[in-house]
Amino acid sequence: MAQLTGNKKVSTAVFISGRGTNLRKLIKFSRKKNSPISINLIVSNNSHAKGLKFSKLYKIKKKVVNFKKSSLFEKKILQTLKKNKIKFICLAGFMKLLSKKFIKNFRGKIINIHPSLLPKYRGLNTHVRVIKNNEKFSGCTVHFVTSKVDSGKIILQKKVKIYKNDTPKKLSKRILFQEHKLYPVAINKIFRSNS
Ligand code: GRF
Repeated sequence: MAQLTGNKKVSTAVFISGRGTNLRKLIKFSRKKNSPISINLIVSNNSHAKGLKFSKLYKIKKKVVNFKKSSLFEKKILQTLKKNKIKFICLAGFMKLLSKKFIKNFRGKIINIHPSLLPKYRGLNTHVRVIKNNEKFSGCTVHFVTSKVDSGKIILQKKVKIYKNDTPKKLSKRILFQEHKLYPVAINKIFRSNS
């Protein structure tokens, strides 16, 4: 489990592929006095990711690597992480799978947020599938990352009720609202617990 050393914030990178609303919430959280992390790097595999604009807005370094080949992508990213002394990684809408080899470099130090109540509905299009199956609840999960999609130990979850006339769009909006609150709480839980 990740550990805080003294009062120093843990140098963190956030990986994104898209709009970056979770990234923005994490940046705001990291800038609070009591936050255990500081966000020092934004990584993306997509040069068009809307969330990259937060690099300029909040003056945080960014690194875009769009090698198709995963091994090259990971090699480049690892170099950048080392150079920037990154010790913790938050995935936030990052659409590329990380290899076992990469994860080994950051064992227990990579977390992700997923818009379902894992282990149910791993993978993509969760809201569509959840509604199709007439589920009564969905939600979001923050979990440790392993090389299997959306697996790994669960850190925290938040349940969200599904209404009769829900659409994937409406549901995703309500779940995203909860994601923004859950991610910082989960990070606090990791660093503040004594385990
Ligand atoms: C979120 O729903 C997150 O759970 C999923 O991808 C989405 C990213 O949204 N992994 P954003 O880029 O943070 O707005």
